[in-house]
Amino acid sequence: MTLRWPAENIWETVAPLLPGFTVEILPEVDSTNTELMRRARAGRPEPILLVAERQTAGRGRLGRDWQSDTDAGLATLTFSLGLPLNPVDWSGLSLAVGLAIVQSLHPTLKLKWPNDVWLDDRKLAGILIETTNVGDLRYAVIGIGINLLPRSADGLRTPPAALSEVMPEADAPSTLEAVVLPLVRMLLAFEGSGFGEQREAFHARDLLYGREVVCTDGTTGMARGVDASGALLVHTASGIQKISSAEVSVRPAVTSTDR
Ligand code: BTN
Repeated sequence: MTLRWPAENIWETVAPLLPGFTVEILPEVDSTNTELMRRARAGRPEPILLVAERQTAGRGRLGRDWQSDTDAGLATLTFSLGLPLNPVDWSGLSLAVGLAIVQSLHPTLKLKWPNDVWLDDRKLAGILIETTNVGDLRYAVIGIGINLLPRSADGLRTPPAALSEVMPEADAPSTLEAVVLPLVRMLLAFEGSGFGEQREAFHARDLLYGREVVCTDGTTGMARGVDASGALLVHTASGIQKISSAEVSVRPAVTSTDR
């Protein structure tokens, strides 16, 4: 099936904010993140939205695979936004990106620190952020995968959530159009003033707030939101612990699921 992508509409709204911005839709690529990192390392740090109807080697956080169903253009939206970014402080970027996604899609969507989008205690979308130096520039690739339709639960303890559960009319093109401009605005706001200004908005969408959590670094306790740098605050038996490492995964203590 051929999808009709709103490339022009997106370009028209984003190009005034990101000079030189382009939109590219590929029927297939190994991974939109890998492709944009390759281009940047080859000296092409351009602002670009790269959408793939199918990824053959999608990547997730912590070295995991990100698998899409075969009919990925219909069942999963996969894209990366690449742009030079120069914030004073990079901490909290993944939280700001997640916030832009949930705010642009549906009021019931939540964020699971540091950057998963969840619906009803199941994962709906994932974010993979990578950066590289190109000359004096720092180039960021923000990769996003959103489950649109229910997917198989192969290898997962719980089936992932799908956007169709709360937005039955949403397809890949309309979801992309809803997300990209708010995402670009969020990135520019982040570049200007960091994560701190988004903290309260994050708390309004924080899946873990007030819940018992278990972290892979052994920390357990009650999640108490995030600080101005985006570090997770966990109230443990020995007081408040801050978790800022992206290598640490956190789960609600009772319902445990990931992807
Ligand atoms: C995660 O949940 O671990 C992050 C998943 C990120 C998946 C997206 S799909 C588009 C982009 N290209 C990739 O290879 N990964 C990201």
